[in-house]
Amino acid sequence: MHKFDDEASRILLNVVSHTIERLSMDPIALDYPKSVDFFKKNAPSLINEEGNSIEAVFDQYKNTIEESIISVDSPRMLAFIPSAPTKASMIFDLVVSAGSLCGVSWQEASGAVWLENQVIRWIADLVGLPRDAGGCFVAGGTNGNLSSLVVAREQYRKKQTDSTKRLAILCSDQAHSSVKSTAKVMDCEVIAVPSNEHYRLTAESIVKELDAHPGKYQAYDIFAVVATAGTTNLGVIDDIESIANYANKNNIWLHVDAAYGGAGLLSDKVRELYRGIERADSFIVDPHKWLFAPLDCAAVIYRNKHLASEVHAQKAGYLDILHEDEEGDNPSDYAFHLSRRARGLPLWFSLSVYGIDAYRQAVQQSLDMAYYAATQINKTSYLSLLIDPTLSVVVFERIGWDWQDYKNWSTDQLRKQVCFVVPSMVGDKPVLRFAFTNPRTSNDIVDEILLSLK
Ligand SMILES: Cc1ncc(COP(=O)(O)O)c(C=O)c1O
Repeated sequence: MHKFDDEASRILLNVVSHTIERLSMDPIALDYPKSVDFFKKNAPSLINEEGNSIEAVFDQYKNTIEESIISVDSPRMLAFIPSAPTKASMIFDLVVSAGSLCGVSWQEASGAVWLENQVIRWIADLVGLPRDAGGCFVAGGTNGNLSSLVVAREQYRKKQTDSTKRLAILCSDQAHSSVKSTAKVMDCEVIAVPSNEHYRLTAESIVKELDAHPGKYQAYDIFAVVATAGTTNLGVIDDIESIANYANKNNIWLHVDAAYGGAGLLSDKVRELYRGIERADSFIVDPHKWLFAPLDCAAVIYRNKHLASEVHAQKAGYLDILHEDEEGDNPSDYAFHLSRRARGLPLWFSLSVYGIDAYRQAVQQSLDMAYYAATQINKTSYLSLLIDPTLSVVVFERIGWDWQDYKNWSTDQLRKQVCFVVPSMVGDKPVLRFAFTNPRTSNDIVDEILLSLK
């Protein structure tokens, strides 16, 4: 099992040739989910005492399993937030996977940390964070939000040692579900402030909400406010500048969740909408969403990274050595994790290969696609745009349809391999939602989807 013998070599050749096929697939097939009965019949368990031939096991994956997994990098995948990794990032992911890299500490992986930190610095510069900002790559935005808000709470506790009130986080009613999950894990409250008529959170809407329910909210110690730079459902950017002023005035932590929308900072056409983002105490962006990195890759960055390491660095006799003569950073110190892949490396590789300008153009392409889709929707008599797109999410109604109609249409389109688009809810209104992150989604694909809604 641990020797690179003839069998291992056969496995590798098999896998590499299959991977080349997958990487060169054009167009990338969407594929679709299969039923439990299908798997029971076609993919019985191969886990037994004796093992199986490499061909048998790999064939099961290749012939039965793979096509049951929707390709998130298909240009026809517009549901949730798709992932459209570059070819170089996917290729280098193989090196990271096969390289036995443990990305915990400088001692174990100095070169990997050095390169990941170049990417962290590039992102920090995009945001406008100071030189001593720092952080690491985690598995997803959910972990990034949790890691950031735990640091925020510890900062607050340093100031409020004798308060017995319940702790609370402010955010908008459009904030991502992971903020609520984070609060659950941290055993604190979320004050979900109704966003304004443009679905944005502003300082004014925060003050209005708190003033409207003084009795309720005075029972809480609010320690952080989350501004979202690119809401998941609607792609809207909160009024970060006014929220930063509010946070500053009330001496609370400003966390910016740019898991999806952070990539938009690369576009000169929308950059202005992020005003105030440079004042974040902590910030997240998921390169596995719109910065063309493979899953799973999210960056969490703190204005003052030392506040994060005070909170997250794990202490034990067997780890002390990692903190002695510490020359570079330990990524494990900056989030709620210890063992980790050096998951920032595929992005480093790809950025270094293609250059920043290629990223700028690819992000702009998704923005342009969203504006194109909105224009086409406005030209129809049977569709109605909910709001003008801010970023690359487009939300609209098919006039006269209810949830079940949307669901039927969605299932049918996936069956025909036209697109993977699922309905969403805005308030109590069912809607359809495109999220563009793949520069290979074309006008023709959008036109085809819109026509199928007639
Ligand atoms: C704004 C926002 N924050 C957080 C998350 C959670 O990220 P992840 O799925 O990587 O945990 C998402 C996911 O879509 C998101 O859109």
